Amino acid sequence: MKKLIIAAAMASLLAACAQPAQEPQAPSSALDVIMTRTSIRAFTGEPVPQEQLETILKAGMAAPSAINIQPWKFVVVTDQEKIKEVFGGGWRPEMFTTAGAVIVVCGETTVMRKPSGQPDAPEQEQPNIFWYEDCSAAAENILLAAHALGLGAVWTAGYPAEERIAPIQEALGIPEKVKPLCIIPVGVPAENPEPKDKWKPENIHWEKW
Ligand SMILES: Cc1cc2nc3c(=O)[nH]c(=O)nc-3n(C[C@H](O)[C@H](O)[C@H](O)COP(=O)(O)O)c2cc1C
Repeated sequence: MKKLIIAAAMASLLAACAQPAQEPQAPSSALDVIMTRTSIRAFTGEPVPQEQLETILKAGMAAPSAINIQPWKFVVVTDQEKIKEVFGGGWRPEMFTTAGAVIVVCGETTVMRKPSGQPDAPEQEQPNIFWYEDCSAAAENILLAAHALGLGAVWTAGYPAEERIAPIQEALGIPEKVKPLCIIPVGVPAENPEPKDKWKPENIHWEKW
């Protein structure tokens, strides 16, 4: 009987060893997506299907925005030659050149509105002081949606670093009053870093500082 139990244990151990290495799994719940997202800076070079890109952009547009202005605009570059030409010259260019797509999250810095308290006046172009908060919310949604789909992405800085945004603005023909807030390469991950543990209770002040 003892021999039988040992043989069965050996058999199940061998069966477990024969299983293929576990592929990284797409997270399943919203909280899981948030807690396991991490910046991905290396991709396989595979294209990202249009349908997935649209899902990611739809998530971006689902973000909140001040008085629901939705000032975001997205420039999506999937052409590999163009990605190299526009984004391949800076720090760690492989972040971009191995991505399947690069999403430039832009914001309209002005908005057409009636002057406050003058409902009959014509609309005027006014500064939209909340554009970068709105677009930051959209950018985070994009990162989370990419991760939820099993893709990788990283937020790379644009606005207000003029030296970063000017060449991109020029190369992609982005109008002057629209600013690139960040540049997000998206692709099939070629790395699987551990999400960072950022839980710091000392950053919380309950009831008052
Ligand atoms: C405003 C902002 C600018 C960033 N700029 C860059 C960048 O230019 N290059 C880069 O590799 N990562 C950039 N990141 C990504 C951060 O380095 C990354 O989020 C941070 O190290 C935390 O790691 P995690 O995203 O894996 O949690 C930026 C993130 C933010 C929010």
